[in-house]
Parts: sequence; structure tokens; C-alpha cells
Amino acid sequence: MAAPLIQATNLCKEHRLGDTTVAALRGVSLTLETGEFIAIMGPSASGKSTLMHLLGLLDHPSAGGCLLLAGRDVMNLNPDERARVRAQEIGFIFQAFNLLGRSTAIENVELAMTYAGIPRSERRRRAAMALEKVGLGHRQHHWPGQLSGGEQQRVAIARVLAAGPGLILADEPTGALDTATGREIMALLQDLNRAGRTIILVTHDPAVAGYAQRIVRMQDGCAISDGPVVRDDGSKGMISQDLAVSEMVAS
Ligand SMILES: Nc1ncnc2c1ncn2[C@@H]1O[C@H](COP(=O)(O)OP(=O)(O)O)[C@@H](O)[C@H]1O
Ligand SMILES: [Mg+2]
Repeated sequence: MAAPLIQATNLCKEHRLGDTTVAALRGVSLTLETGEFIAIMGPSASGKSTLMHLLGLLDHPSAGGCLLLAGRDVMNLNPDERARVRAQEIGFIFQAFNLLGRSTAIENVELAMTYAGIPRSERRRRAAMALEKVGLGHRQHHWPGQLSGGEQQRVAIARVLAAGPGLILADEPTGALDTATGREIMALLQDLNRAGRTIILVTHDPAVAGYAQRIVRMQDGCAISDGPVVRDDGSKGMISQDLAVSEMVAS
């Protein structure tokens, strides 16, 4: 059997803040198979973003822990190797969109492909296709500042779509969007998952978490529960969009 896509064991992270230390993660373990779509929920400051940063190789654990990606130990890679794994295998979607303000939509999408090592001749074609796919074919040459929040998040999704990483980390991707726009973004993420991408989504909105198949709850730096999303009728797994998902995930 193939190794799990993610096998994180006992991840610990302390943040230094002046003279004090904040224990942001106190031994979190998480295993994820390829193709899963999980939501991480929990109150503010419970360690959700810290966990995403560690899983995305944007940060190191400070007090131990082990992280295997597809069976490979990624804790002891040198900075270049980490950057390569990040660019080729992991896509990020953030609450604040994080687009380069001085690059157009299509340039933003192309840049991620540059880091991922996709040949120049391929980049423009794939970027245009990805923007078309997220409904922004007509906005390719707009600057982020000329786009609405929802459109900027679509560019961020196109960036992931075009670069092709198997793992997508989305930290509050709908946090800055109105409900209807947030739903459109979640539908796009759901499409990516159905196409085989593995997704880890942080949200504190139960309706948004309802798009996932599994929910991990965090509290005070610990994962306190981990289980499937359960529907009203007791069945488990994927929820269809037209159901009242907020009730289903409240447990
Ligand atoms: N860069 C940082 N420096 C200092 N403290 C931090 C830093 N990032 C996060 N923290 C602290 O770590 C804890 C967990 O934060 P975070 O992972 O951002 O939680 P969440 O995403 O669940 O809101 C909080 O107490 C937060 O203040
Ligand atoms: Mg956070």
C-alpha cells in the first residue's frame, strides 16, 4: 500500500514573543491519505495557521515532531530542497489572497509555474486555461487591485490549478468574502478535490467545513477530535451543497 500523503507525528511549535513563549502546537499528529478533503476548525489562536505553516513547509517545528510527505521525511531537507517540495507539491490559498500587486492576473498564475519548474512554453497556455476555468478568462490582464475579493481568490485558485500541486492548503479562504462568493470559491475547491487533489482547509464557518469529508478540531494547540462529517440522516462523507450543512457539522 502507498504511504499516506501526510504523516505528521507529535508536531510541537513554540512562538517567541519578546521574553515570553507561546506554545502554539502541543504535539499534534495527523495522517492524511491522497484525495482527502479535511477541514481544521477551532477557536482563534488554537494553532490552526501554525499547523498549516508546518505542513506546508513554511515553518519548522521548534520542539520536535516528525513530518513525512508521501513517506519521505521532509523535516531534514536543506532550504533549497524544502523550497522545491513546496513549489512542486504544495499549493497555498490564503484569506488575504496574497497575489503580487504589481503583476497581472495571468502573470501571478505564471509565476507559481516558474517556481514549480514548468517550461516557459507551457506557462502562458496553462495560465490562460486555468483562468478560463475559474471564470476569469476576460480578466487575464487586470491587476489584483482592479479585481474584487472573489475574483482575486479565483486567481489564487487558478495559480494552484495551473501549477498542479497534489496538496492544497487553504487557510480561511472564504474569510474575507461574502457568503455567496465564499460558496463559489468552495465549489471550485470541491472541483479540485474531485479531480484528485488533496485539500486541507482551515475555517471557523461550519457551512464551509461542510464541504470537507472529515473535520479535525483544534483547541489550545491540540487536536481534540478527528472524524468524518456526519449528515442529518446519519450518513457520512461528502455533503451536497443544497443541504443545511451548518447543522450537520455542529457536533
Ligand atoms: N509569529 C508569531 N509570533 C508569536 N506568536 C505567534 C505567531 N504566530 C502565532 N502566534 C501565537 O500562536 C498561537 C496560535 O496562533 P495561530 O496558529 O495563528 O492560531 P489560529 O490560526 O488558530 O488562530 C496564538 O496564541 C498566536 O498568538
Ligand atoms: Mg489562523
